[in-house]
Amino acid sequence: MNRVSHIAIIMDGNGRWATQRGMQRIRGHERGAEVVREITTYCANHPEVEVLTLYAFSTENWKRPKMEVEFLMKLLENWLRKELPTYQREGVRFETIGDLSKFSPRLQERIAETKELTRGNRKLTQVLALNYGGRDEIIRACRKACRAGVELNEANFEEFLDADLGDVDMMVRTGGEQRISNFLLWRAAYAELFFTPTLWPDFTAQELERLIEEFKGRERRFGAL
Ligand code: FPP
Repeated sequence: MNRVSHIAIIMDGNGRWATQRGMQRIRGHERGAEVVREITTYCANHPEVEVLTLYAFSTENWKRPKMEVEFLMKLLENWLRKELPTYQREGVRFETIGDLSKFSPRLQERIAETKELTRGNRKLTQVLALNYGGRDEIIRACRKACRAGVELNEANFEEFLDADLGDVDMMVRTGGEQRISNFLLWRAAYAELFFTPTLWPDFTAQELERLIEEFKGRERRFGAL
């Protein structure tokens, strides 16, 4: 049976969830943040899952209305402050991928502080992809290697990516679209893909558990026969 060590999730559908209820889109993000807590706690207590990578803000998301971008920034900042006890209680180490240099100094400080305070936690690494694009990460990795005078190969490439997370086993996208939208392009080379129509604010640990069961039954050949 397949072992699930790294789960990556594209959390899509917050806006639609709110609009369907006659609410502003930002209310969907608010509810989505609650689901992040539920799924993180589930993964921290799962015997196999070691890394949970969540697509929280893409390099393209800056194109959204200013008010929504500002709300997401504020939500993230408050979230990191509020969630620290959860990270500590559940043994979750906080990590990020993406180019953080575009965020406000305050948010950058909060991110650095959360990483530092949770560094020793061992049950799960929760990775938020922030101002993240898979192509952007690959280009930045190549530049780093070039500056260091290192000749890249498949074995050493990961060292130059934003964080050492290993390959993705399962990539899940909520919200009904069937594409990977520039997420984890290098690490998802052999990921099993799962698409669910469930909007992110309605996603539950039970649904993730069902998808993990399906993953366990899939045949993974990694190119062999
Ligand atoms: C996609 O839904 C979701 C986002 C762009 C943001 C994801 C953010 C969260 C889940 C909440 C914040 C997370 C943390 C960790 C505080 P969409 O807005 O594209 O939905 P739509 O496709 O229905 O419009």
